[in-house]
Amino acid sequence: MPAAYQPFTFTHSNRRVISAWNGLDKLGDLAREAGAKSPAVVLDAFFENGEVAARVVDLLQAATGTKPALHFVPAHEPDTDTIEACYRALAAASPDFVVALGGGSAMDTAKVARLLLSNPGSAESVSGFGKLFKPHASLLVAVPTTAGTGSEVSESAVAGKAGSDIKLIFRSQEMTPHIALLDGSLSMTAPAKVTAASGYDAVTHAVEAYVSRAASVMSDPFAESAMLLLGQWLPVAYREPTHQDARSWCLIASCQAAIAFNSANLGLAHAIAAPLGALHHVPHGLGNALALPAVAAYNEAAMGPKAAVVARAFGGATAAAGLSKLRQLLGLDLSLDGFVGTDEERELVAQAAMKSGQVRMNPRLATIEDMRAIIQAMRTPTGGGEPVIAL
Ligand SMILES: [Fe+2]
Repeated sequence: MPAAYQPFTFTHSNRRVISAWNGLDKLGDLAREAGAKSPAVVLDAFFENGEVAARVVDLLQAATGTKPALHFVPAHEPDTDTIEACYRALAAASPDFVVALGGGSAMDTAKVARLLLSNPGSAESVSGFGKLFKPHASLLVAVPTTAGTGSEVSESAVAGKAGSDIKLIFRSQEMTPHIALLDGSLSMTAPAKVTAASGYDAVTHAVEAYVSRAASVMSDPFAESAMLLLGQWLPVAYREPTHQDARSWCLIASCQAAIAFNSANLGLAHAIAAPLGALHHVPHGLGNALALPAVAAYNEAAMGPKAAVVARAFGGATAAAGLSKLRQLLGLDLSLDGFVGTDEERELVAQAAMKSGQVRMNPRLATIEDMRAIIQAMRTPTGGGEPVIAL
């Protein structure tokens, strides 16, 4: 615990979390309980021809007497066109019960599209921070199918501006799902690469929220629990995709990490992962895996007693070594050079990362020279050892 009292702001970003193996079957009861008459389901396109979509339709039809409207979200990261297509589908269905099922893309798309139902306009018109929105009367149930973004318990969403490299951030408590339904059985079919990258995104949420300047005694227990669970169970979920405990614990941890970062914010790894995604199409979780061990090495002294807690959670002599070891176990110990090839491109990533609001949340305030040194360190895989930052 910190020695001196610190003021803080903490927003509870979830109202109800339900965790159960095969918990998807509870959707019917939840719809009945809500008195739903007009359900709609937004799903990841991954589930288009599978048993999951048919199961959701049957459960909701039996509970409400109405066949739910279905809308499938493309697998790539969402943009404003994706959101507006989903909005049109939801507007046609006029739903009183919305299920968002999938990874971060499907959940983020559904959250913003539903917000547009009560605040009509373009997707871009509801982007940004601090805007007041009218609530929508429907109940929103988010069902994550990968352990990663934690979008099921956050008030934010991210999407590209169609036809550009610009990432829009959406943030409003009106987007917070009413119920997060965590069913580990749905994540068993995720490819190993997705388990690894999205899982490392959750790790990065937990660590960056824990050491953030906006961390508090309210967010720390969530972040610390998430780190401990992911350190123990993410490698198991990666090696044994059908391991029930591993899948369940990783989903719970990703949800806890998001509850923490919803208030505590993030740090330099996310500041760097954003331009890697926007400019070089590096998947978000992989961008974090490339950055976090180097960022942790850079932050080590500024983390104070929390550095030892992070190190212990991931089984390393230091926080950076533990995170580097986990990255190697997950097959993510790669060089930045595979994605960003030239000095000029690295400089553009550094400049863009410095513009992120997360830079101010990081425990050590980075200059552009520091950012360049971190990005330079990301060129060398660490083999599970300590990254070297040349400063
Ligand atoms: Fe993230």
